[in-house]
Amino acid sequence: MITKYTSGNPINTEAVEEHFDAFSTEEFPLNHYIKNGKFIFEFDMQPDDIVYGLGEAPRGINKRGWIYESCCTDDPFHTETKSSLYAAHNFIMLNGIRKFGVFVDFPARIRWDIGYTLQNKTTVTIEGTDFDIYFITGDKPIDIVRQFRAAIGKSYVPPLWAFGYQQSRWSYHNSDAVDRVIEKYNEAQIPLDCVYLDIDYMDHYKDFTISEEAFPHFKEYVSEKRRQGIHLIPIIDAGVKKEDGYEIYEEGKEKGYFCKKADGSDFEAGVWPGMCCFPDFLDPEVREWFGGKYKVLTDMGIDGFWNDMNEPALFYSAEGIESALEKATKLKGENLDLSKFFGLKDTFAGLSNNQNDYASMYHNIGSKQVNHQCVHNIYGANMTKAAGEYFAKEFGEGKILMFSRASYIGAHRSSGIWFGDNHSWWSHILLCLKMLPSANMCGFLYCGSDLGGFNENATRDLVLRFLALGVFTPLMRNHSALGTRDQECYSFENPEDFRDIIQVRYRLIPYLYNAFRKASKNNDMLFRPLSFDYPDDSIARECETQLMLSEECMIAPVYEQNAKGRMVYLPENMTFLRLSGERVKKQELERGVHYIEVALNEVPLFVKKGKEVPLVKPVMRTAELNIL
Ligand code: GLC
Repeated sequence: MITKYTSGNPINTEAVEEHFDAFSTEEFPLNHYIKNGKFIFEFDMQPDDIVYGLGEAPRGINKRGWIYESCCTDDPFHTETKSSLYAAHNFIMLNGIRKFGVFVDFPARIRWDIGYTLQNKTTVTIEGTDFDIYFITGDKPIDIVRQFRAAIGKSYVPPLWAFGYQQSRWSYHNSDAVDRVIEKYNEAQIPLDCVYLDIDYMDHYKDFTISEEAFPHFKEYVSEKRRQGIHLIPIIDAGVKKEDGYEIYEEGKEKGYFCKKADGSDFEAGVWPGMCCFPDFLDPEVREWFGGKYKVLTDMGIDGFWNDMNEPALFYSAEGIESALEKATKLKGENLDLSKFFGLKDTFAGLSNNQNDYASMYHNIGSKQVNHQCVHNIYGANMTKAAGEYFAKEFGEGKILMFSRASYIGAHRSSGIWFGDNHSWWSHILLCLKMLPSANMCGFLYCGSDLGGFNENATRDLVLRFLALGVFTPLMRNHSALGTRDQECYSFENPEDFRDIIQVRYRLIPYLYNAFRKASKNNDMLFRPLSFDYPDDSIARECETQLMLSEECMIAPVYEQNAKGRMVYLPENMTFLRLSGERVKKQELERGVHYIEVALNEVPLFVKKGKEVPLVKPVMRTAELNIL
């Protein structure tokens, strides 16, 4: 059962689709109070209780023992002591003797102290008093998830080819570079469906433009690639370059479509192209305008996009730079002691994503000026909505691949997400695994990490092990940052090992796509913590390195360097499959703990007794799978 409580005058985030009559928060069943204009609620936890949720967030599947913040943040260091990533997924669930879920529908900051200050207490601080809060009860965690998911609406389903293997890099600078990637994959006989175009395909990083020099005759080029079975996926950034004569900028300025400063002038901040203006995506008219701009690219045959920098990321403002330079000038010639030196360093480091800049940005909501900080967490989601609304109108559901970096619950209806700028670290294999069920609870089914890791240099074994997890993530994309070592599968020795892994993905696509569609249709999770399925099994309840996949399987990737395998816990008897290219090794394993050996070119998969997983012949492109 779901009960809605309303406090004050909430901004309509459109996260929830179902209608609920609202009660006053005075009746909210958890202990609550207002302090300094903030609504705080809290609950006690028994030592064995688990708290799930928060979608894309740092740390474990069980969120206990840390303090998190809902604040979409452009932070490329996903270390375990961070409190936010790029998303605000305000749903948590307590699983113990008491079971309930809570969704806080509030677009500004929320702090989730889940056993950080006091081990057995959760305290949630909503930084305001205008919000809706939904309290969800059910007998089992999955019942709570299903009710919540039914309330927020069906998850986005991408086209089938979006389940193919995807290669990305910042950047393939021109068409020759893209051609080379495709040729190399073909030569190595490694399946591939998509190649990504990062910011350099644009003319000076201007949205909806193409650099003629880098990609001449783009439309013909796109269709040539399509004939080769390859989809090109361009990036779209939130910031619009401030440049006289640039159509999008001129139009946005003239029509008043950009976010404003308090004095009514356009708010500006630096991103990749230098100074940018930021479309006010919270205004439906602006969404329609910006969404319609994707037509420039869909008219050229493009059918997939990734929306980026939409937290929004602000590298600097003119005011910020000015005061930092002033500070530096004042210190010129001085003997910089500890506080002066680090103060100076922090001033420059603090230029990016500075709270003062966000505080000087305003939106127009129903002809009222609203400060950005009050709606920060729905900015990116509304950029994606702009695109999603256009695609749905123009092409119908499920035709265009779309995923975003920033997100809020509700955006799961029109798009997927990727987990942003991770690192080529072994620990990030597990971070990806842990975010999958949490994201699924919040409706985001089409998701995945940058396989191989985005920042810093990857090793061959890391990429192989990362890909072996990626075989199961709906978005299977290898992406890496500017200046890092090449990370395409053919860049390493013995590319046939990579072929073995990626072919397994293609063998599983009919199964995975079907499982995905079912999960979307039934408001189910594609990935579940083991504790959902084996609530009375104390080992399963604690497991954070394995996941249940759909109704049939369990996955357990190898996540340590130089390991020939891993320990795995089977909560029931299962068939252990080692999949590699077209080869399958089978072993029946009994309930309990086992050490399993997994070679670098193998994908481990566990199938429950009495269940089956269909495997098809591998192909080079999803189109050859002949699935209608
Ligand atoms: C951001 C994105 C990353 C992209 C880069 C350049 O860091 O998260 O994926 O490659 O910008 O566009």
